[in-house]
Amino acid sequence: WMPPLAALMLGYLLGSIPFGVLLTRAAGAGDLRQIGSGNIGATNVLRTGRKGLAAATLLLDLAKGWCAVVIATALLPDNEQLAAAGAFVGHCYPVWLKFRGGKGVATLMGIVLALQPALGLVYAAVWLGLLGALRISSVAGMAAAASAPVAAAVLGRFDLVPLLLALALIVIWKHRENIGRLIEGSEPRIGSKRG
Ligand code: G3P
Repeated sequence: WMPPLAALMLGYLLGSIPFGVLLTRAAGAGDLRQIGSGNIGATNVLRTGRKGLAAATLLLDLAKGWCAVVIATALLPDNEQLAAAGAFVGHCYPVWLKFRGGKGVATLMGIVLALQPALGLVYAAVWLGLLGALRISSVAGMAAAASAPVAAAVLGRFDLVPLLLALALIVIWKHRENIGRLIEGSEPRIGSKRG
């Protein structure tokens, strides 16, 4: 039972590093949880007006998911899905922030890229395509997350479908306030005044 527990914990520790909060604070741009949507992800960092900081948050949140899977693959083989789940749960429910974490979109991209690069490319294409077309981060993120289990099935990676389905459902659950705003028509677009 040791390797599975080690993989989960390794993933959780990496995933729970709240890069958005840390970078925003270090840059003197305030407490991210008091800004915009209050979310700790790159989209909300962008609302501080600091594009470089937002890009760094996106990359680091992605990298922690990717690293969790890559490290587990090397050191704890056959437990990479547990490391992936740990990293995702760590990002969405970090103990350090009283379990109020992010929405999982960037971390899941890193996880999917590490589990199966082709799936990562589909995820990135859906995310970037919708972000470019609609400029609504939540829609792009939810659609990318939902594409992952479907793409896994299409590519014959049925072993990944249950995990990716569960993580996509959590991504959608975490966006419930965004979904409310989308229904009301008040969800902001990237680059708009309300950000
Ligand atoms: O990944 C988070 C994004 O999909 C939505 O962020 O700040 O607009 O709620 P936000």
